[in-house]
Amino acid sequence: MFYKKPLQVLLAESEAEGGLKRTLTARNLVALGIGAIIGAGIFTLTGTAAATNAGPAVMLSFLLAAFACVFAGLCYSEFASMIPIAGSAYTYAYATMGEFIAWIIGWDLILEYLFAASTVAVSWSGYVVSFFRDIGIHLPSNIASAPYDYNSATGELTSTGGLINFPAMFIVAIVTTLLVVGIRESTKFNNIIVLIKVTIILLFIGFGIAYIDTDNLTPFIPENEGPGLYGWSGVLRGASIIFFAYIGFDAVSTAAQEAKNPQKDMPKGILGSLAVCTLLYILVSLVMTGVVSYEALNVPDPVAVAVNAAGPDLFWLRFPVKIGAIAGLSSVILVMLMGQPRIFYAMAHDGLLPAVFSKIHPKFRTPYISTISTGLVAILIAGFAPINLLGELVSIGTLLAFMIVCGGILVLRYTNPELPRPFKAPLFPFTPIMGILVCGFLMVSLPWHTWERLLIWMAIGILIYFLYSKRHSKIGKLARLAGKDEKLK
Ligand code: ALA
Repeated sequence: MFYKKPLQVLLAESEAEGGLKRTLTARNLVALGIGAIIGAGIFTLTGTAAATNAGPAVMLSFLLAAFACVFAGLCYSEFASMIPIAGSAYTYAYATMGEFIAWIIGWDLILEYLFAASTVAVSWSGYVVSFFRDIGIHLPSNIASAPYDYNSATGELTSTGGLINFPAMFIVAIVTTLLVVGIRESTKFNNIIVLIKVTIILLFIGFGIAYIDTDNLTPFIPENEGPGLYGWSGVLRGASIIFFAYIGFDAVSTAAQEAKNPQKDMPKGILGSLAVCTLLYILVSLVMTGVVSYEALNVPDPVAVAVNAAGPDLFWLRFPVKIGAIAGLSSVILVMLMGQPRIFYAMAHDGLLPAVFSKIHPKFRTPYISTISTGLVAILIAGFAPINLLGELVSIGTLLAFMIVCGGILVLRYTNPELPRPFKAPLFPFTPIMGILVCGFLMVSLPWHTWERLLIWMAIGILIYFLYSKRHSKIGKLARLAGKDEKLK
């Protein structure tokens, strides 16, 4: 359980895979972060969080969630500079905290990547349906909606009259196919999508701000109606839900090996993309809840609803907003669905998952089995699960991953002070401790039902670890064979 993968082995493996070219500048890294970050969180969940939890104070929720990410982001940067290979929190954990923690985080990251891809696909579907409606094509609602709606406060599922969310399944299928045949999100393509996303958001802010009606913003914090329902507890619950909107900056850390100057540019990329997104998010939520009453925002396409509410003068903005959202959301799905199979690949490579998941397609040179399996599961989830249930699950899973990363940084500074750390998280030990506390605080703000789901998920993972992974671990086998248990611990 406590075997560690030696750093030299990790570095040698990454070299053996051909090594990656160091081409990314700080600007590229910020764009990479923004490309992965701006998605369903701002385009859909802001509306849900404003309508059901925080009211206009959803702006404060955004600010609070940003704090958690800054602390975690600094810890991610330290790991990424210490182990500058194309990995993820799973690899960091295997090298430093041992196999069991690595497994826990790898299993937990499925909640982040795979489930987030489905969540964003549901948001994509909302904007596509809305776009088609505008051009006179009415997609039957029963094939564009999950069968159940989820009430976050009570944990109840209520029937929507829908059968299946077909558009959400469609986009996951398309992206999976592209990933199997080997599309790599090129820096150029990413920069274009980022430009479209940011332009649309700036247009929405710039034009929408003139239509703010202060009546909509008062009371700024609606009166509390129960745990997580408005008032300060609603702001907190809103922050834990809206936290989803920031997920993705960790994608920057996975590019450490491709950065020209990781030491300086990693933190710039992570903190820069976070800063830009925080500012945009706060302004979007101000305009959204200012233009239309927060009560009207519990819809799949709240940005479009706000544009409509502004009146005929702003109708021209409807199409650009929807097209921008559709394009922007697609690229987030791509990033998430590209990340997940690579984690499976790494886990299979280490023997913690069956070897078939590390199979590379002979022609396309992609991890096709893990990509297709990820895609199939993501398709099913996207077709049948309500977006707010998914969003909360992704948030709690990612918060847990962030806590482990912050905890890892804290422990390693004491246990392995000798490891070279080109970037050190500042204000040690304040930064990792605050990361753990703020992420823990946001986790606690999530409803008990979400905790239950997380616990069930982790229990399944731990069972698989003891029944399969521990016995098949390559490092474990090697150590047993060589009788070098102590050395690898
Ligand atoms: N932050 C990403 C989004 O909001 C996951 O879609």
